[in-house]
Amino acid sequence: MGKDIITLAIESSCDETSVAIMKNGREVLANEILSQIDIHKLYGGVVPEIASRHHLESINHVVEEALKKGNVTFEDIDFISATKGPGLVGALLIGVATAKAYALAMNKDLVGVHHIHGHICANYIEHKDLEPPFLALVISGGHTNLISVKSYTEYEVLGGTRDDAIGEAYDKVARVLGLGYPGGPKIDAIAKEGNPEAVHFKRVFLEKGSLDFSFSGIKTGVLNYINGERQKGNEIVVADIAASFQEAVLEVLVTKVINSAVELGEKKLVLAGGVAANSRLKELLEEKCKKNKIELYYPSLKLCTDNAAMIGCAAYYKYLEGKKDALDLDATAILEI
Ligand SMILES: Nc1ncnc2c1ncn2[C@@H]1O[C@H](COP(=O)(O)OP(=O)(O)OP(=O)(O)O)[C@@H](O)[C@H]1O
Ligand SMILES: [Mg+2]
Repeated sequence: MGKDIITLAIESSCDETSVAIMKNGREVLANEILSQIDIHKLYGGVVPEIASRHHLESINHVVEEALKKGNVTFEDIDFISATKGPGLVGALLIGVATAKAYALAMNKDLVGVHHIHGHICANYIEHKDLEPPFLALVISGGHTNLISVKSYTEYEVLGGTRDDAIGEAYDKVARVLGLGYPGGPKIDAIAKEGNPEAVHFKRVFLEKGSLDFSFSGIKTGVLNYINGERQKGNEIVVADIAASFQEAVLEVLVTKVINSAVELGEKKLVLAGGVAANSRLKELLEEKCKKNKIELYYPSLKLCTDNAAMIGCAAYYKYLEGKKDALDLDATAILEI
């Protein structure tokens, strides 16, 4: 047995300041997450400038907490990693600059990680036996992508959203319904009390064979429905609208994903990103996967949304392949998967 590889990982792409200590990539020694949700809730969404300021104020403290929780010192750390993009550039910069400063001061290697690779790698932490290749569905606040994961470091995008990400659609519709931010978990909860067949929202499948998605129309659909009902003097049943919206977007998502998995002969489907926490989606996919003999994997709630453990895991596999970064590593707002 060789020596254990210990990673210090930083995630700061949006509104979570997170620092993790990982052992051999897949074992979490610490995964500290400081969420700014309560601050941004006041504005109905993330305010980039405020996010950067809070990352800056808390990052060193979160690093110390993670080291303490993980029961390690800087001496034990083999390399440092951070999310390099995509995300809010001011927020990313704090994590990248911190990682570079520690790498330089402590003479450690540095590995920059693509945030979405991190979301996918969260599954390796949860499922110790999972290995590539597999088909991944990344569904988050900024992404809706079907990805063929070829190895621990090779990804091929098969399809993506042409407009809004699915999490964005959840958040926008929740706002229209007055449910607050972030909307995904709120819609997930209230939809359980509603009738998914109460309102028929259009299912947008795009051209035949396309693995792309479009979710921007459904917010307008919900708005038009609400306005129409109000004009008629009818009462709005929020739970019914939430359930009907959810059924429409999930029907498109699940149909496309299962069809492409079957066509490609994929035997493993891996979910990643915040929307992977959705209970109705998991219910629908579990049933369809069972029917089609596809093994379904998804991370636990804490590993679905932004966290540094997933970044440390993705970084570990890059590190093993010698894919390290120099101290000129930069934060990038838009970055190809
Ligand atoms: N139970 C749920 N059902 C539906 N959506 C959910 C649920 N829980 C969280 N979400 C959605 O997940 C999104 C947040 O996920 P995540 O943190 O992965 O996204 P992000 O980091 O903002 O975007 P990206 O990773 O693409 O940069 C939000 O849009 C939120 O509403
Ligand atoms: Mg994310």
